[in-house]
Amino acid sequence: MCGIVGYVGKRNSVDVLIKGLKNLEYRGYDSAGIAVCENDKIEIVKKEGKIKNLESSVSSLGSSHIGIGHTRWATHGPANTVNSHPHRVGCVTLVHNGIIENYVKLRKELKDLGYSFKSDTDTEVACALIDSIYKECKDKLLTMKKANEKIIGSFAFAILFDDDFDNIYVMRKDSPLIIAISDDGNFIASDVPAILEFTNKYILLEKDEYGVISGDKVIVYDNDFNILDKEILTYEESLDSAMKNGYEHFMIKEINDEPRTLTATYEQFFKSDINELLCNMPDFSKYKSIDIIGCGSAYHAGLVGKSFLERYADIPVNTYLASEYRYEKNFSDSSTLTILISQSGETADTLAALRKAKDRGIDTLGIINTVGSSIAREASKVFYIKVGCEVSVATTKAYSAQVLILELMALCIGVRKGIISLEAANDIISDIKELPSLIEEEINNKPSYDKIASLIYKNEDIFFLGRGIDYSLCMEGSLKLKEISYIHSESYAAGELKHGTISLIDKGTPVIGLVTDPDLAMKTISNIKETKARGSFVVLVTLESIFDEYKNDDFYDEVITIKDVDSFASPLLAITIFQLISYEVAKLRGEAIDKPRNLAKSVTVE
Ligand code: AGP
Ligand code: GLU
Repeated sequence: MCGIVGYVGKRNSVDVLIKGLKNLEYRGYDSAGIAVCENDKIEIVKKEGKIKNLESSVSSLGSSHIGIGHTRWATHGPANTVNSHPHRVGCVTLVHNGIIENYVKLRKELKDLGYSFKSDTDTEVACALIDSIYKECKDKLLTMKKANEKIIGSFAFAILFDDDFDNIYVMRKDSPLIIAISDDGNFIASDVPAILEFTNKYILLEKDEYGVISGDKVIVYDNDFNILDKEILTYEESLDSAMKNGYEHFMIKEINDEPRTLTATYEQFFKSDINELLCNMPDFSKYKSIDIIGCGSAYHAGLVGKSFLERYADIPVNTYLASEYRYEKNFSDSSTLTILISQSGETADTLAALRKAKDRGIDTLGIINTVGSSIAREASKVFYIKVGCEVSVATTKAYSAQVLILELMALCIGVRKGIISLEAANDIISDIKELPSLIEEEINNKPSYDKIASLIYKNEDIFFLGRGIDYSLCMEGSLKLKEISYIHSESYAAGELKHGTISLIDKGTPVIGLVTDPDLAMKTISNIKETKARGSFVVLVTLESIFDEYKNDDFYDEVITIKDVDSFASPLLAITIFQLISYEVAKLRGEAIDKPRNLAKSVTVE
């Protein structure tokens, strides 16, 4: 699920592979390895832990023109050196991203044929399977096709055969793989940033396609072995967007990027007024209902979107976790628009949900960051969020831009249906245009986040409380905090806490209360008071006007206020505050902020 890189050409493949793997580090991994051909023999070096462990071990290798490398995010068997990739069985050496679902059955069949296994992985089984098929048919393309037919699950494979050290063979099903092209050799990778310092020209390998890559030639075949005339694409983003540029972590760099990226997101639709937005956004008002699907933060963005679409566009919206949607009964029909939200565009569950909706003939819209990703290609329509490469595993700028696109959809439909007047819409647009500078001001308020972080970072349980949209924002705030600081944190609908979870509130338990809706303020504040009465330490995040009204009430210990803005702008200001507090807390705890344990940036397994 993590990273694949490969190279064949005039350069020393060892250097290329190590650089490529380092560029993939951000995706999260637990071990790494490479296989290169040296003096007509395969040499494999693999190590548990960080790439720097691997780097210090490859110095013994000589120069090599061909090789494959991998960062593993363990799914089958612990993260140790034996289980890490590349795997080698018979005459086949390979790296794999994904999961082989029928590996138990295949392993048994292969054991009956005399194969034995060193690792616990599903990957080694695939390696043996490919070896066994190749030994029988002696044709590499046919071998890949037959393996493709036998394997159930998701995969991208890069394969070296012992009798052909001029070519890397690749095949994929649901895990992404690109082939990149340069004058002094060709590359393969699970995503373009891995090889961007060498070339920005690439080909997307699609499901059920097979690639044969030498130093000066790339041939891609379809499932019937016809040679395909694949389009050579250019990756437009600079390597800069995948660099820290002086920031201590990618996460804080990416939060600082929000003013610029939110502007880029809305400027796709308007620079001046609502009429531009109406011209540039398709008419979604014909749909009777909307389903929104995503995982993790993308799902949380969908929850905020639901509130906006229901409130301002008067459309019923159902939100689904993609992993649940896949197996649930769904009642939508051709009058439903199904929105898939995904930064990477490769999340396996979201991709499967998209395919399920499409199979039922439902219109689909992807809200995606990664250009050319699987969901972007397969959805009937795509809105790109335009935030550039997001490296930190904990998403920040992508989440905010996803929320903004959903808000713009609600605004547009609301105007088309006559629910929002043109004048009111233009006021909202002015507030949205002001957002980037307000977020910048918030980012500059570092001393407040430092102070709050210093007061809560030693706790092991933190609660977020909110109502309505604030509750959805709290869910994202809580996820942000827990994924990078490893503090147990829960988000609760403010009114629900008293139905059980309030028993966890003890003296000093931090409760972060978000109150941005003046109509609901009194209710939420009452719930916050209930926790205060049980000794909680309350951090209040609220609008200036709400604070003015309630500041003399004795229910908070610390406060951060948000400028009084329209309800379209306040969620994006609130979430930046949560992102910044989470960042400072994780920093004080000394955690690996950009690469939290056990997590991967792009989850391409079910
Ligand atoms: C967010 O910080 C996460 N690490 C995670 O929840 C993420 O949002 C989720 O895995 C979905 O990813 P996607 O947007 O690439 O589909
Ligand atoms: N399922 C494989 C394993 O556990 C591959 C994991 C990955 O994609 O990194 O080794």
